[in-house]
Amino acid sequence: MARGKKIYEGKAKTLYEGPEPGTLIQYFKDDATAFNAEKKAVVDGKGVLNNRLSEFFMEGLNSIGVPNHFIKRLNMREQLIRQCEIVPLEVIVRNFAAGSMSKRLGIEEGTRLPRPIIEFSYKDDDLGDPLVPEEYIIAFGWASQQDMDDIVALALRVNDFMAGVMYGVGIKLIDFKIEIGRVWEGDFMRLIVADEISPDSCRLWDIESGQKLDKDVFRRDLGNLTDAYTEVARRLGVLPTNGPAAANSVIN
Ligand SMILES: Nc1ncnc2c1ncn2[C@@H]1O[C@H](COP(=O)(O)OP(=O)(O)O)[C@@H](O)[C@H]1O
Ligand SMILES: [Mg+2]
Repeated sequence: MARGKKIYEGKAKTLYEGPEPGTLIQYFKDDATAFNAEKKAVVDGKGVLNNRLSEFFMEGLNSIGVPNHFIKRLNMREQLIRQCEIVPLEVIVRNFAAGSMSKRLGIEEGTRLPRPIIEFSYKDDDLGDPLVPEEYIIAFGWASQQDMDDIVALALRVNDFMAGVMYGVGIKLIDFKIEIGRVWEGDFMRLIVADEISPDSCRLWDIESGQKLDKDVFRRDLGNLTDAYTEVARRLGVLPTNGPAAANSVIN
C-alpha cells in the first residue's frame, strides 16, 4: 500500500498520510528513548515487535468492544490506523507501585495498590509531560468532565483486558500508559484508544522471577531489550516462528 506524505516524526514512530481520508500509516521505528529523550539508542528489531504486539492488543480490545484506532497491519513495521485528534494527555493506569510513583511516595516498587489508580500527565515534551490533576484538564479545556468519565472507563477496560491477557502468560501488569483520540461520526464525537500498546508503554514483570520484560530493561540497563520484548511476543503466540534473529533481519 502506497503511503502518503510524512506528517509527523515522533520518538518511536512516524506517521504518514493513509490511503483514505481519515486514515494514517503508523511506522514503528527501532529508536528507543527514555527520560524525555535524554537517553537514546537504536534497538534492532524493537519496531517490528511493537508493531506486532500493538496489533495483538488492539485487535483483542476490538474483539471485546473497546474502540481503538487499529485497522490492519500492513507489513513488519507498518499498520493502518484511524486518524484521530489526540487528547494531549498520557493516561497512566497503575496496579502496583513502580517508577515515578514509587519515587514520589516512597512506596517500594512492586507493592500492590489498593485498587487501580489512574493518573494523567500533560503531553508536552518541553515540559517533561508533567503530572496534572483532573481539575487542570477540565479548566484548561483539554477534555471535558464527560470526556474524563469516558476516558477513565476506557482505561479501566484496557487495564482489565491487559492484566488478564498478561496473567495468562505468567506476566504481571504493573502499570501502563495509553493515549486517547477523538473521532467524529457526523456530529457525534467518540473517544477511542490510540497510539500504541506495547512493552514500550507498559511495565511487565515475570510472575515467578520478577524479571522485567519492558522498557525498564533499557531505562535501567538490565540487559537486551529485544530479547525481553521477544519473550513477551513468544509467550503471547505472536511471532510464533520468528525469533529475535528474524525480527532483526527485517529492515523494511
Ligand atoms: N490514531 C492517531 N491519530 C493521530 N495521531 C496519533 C494516533 N495515534 C498516535 N498518534 C500520535 O502519533 C505520535 C506517535 O509517535 P511517537 O513516536 O510515539 O511520538 P512522541 O514522540 O510524540 O511520543 C504521537 O504523538 C501520538 O500522539
Ligand atoms: Mg509516543
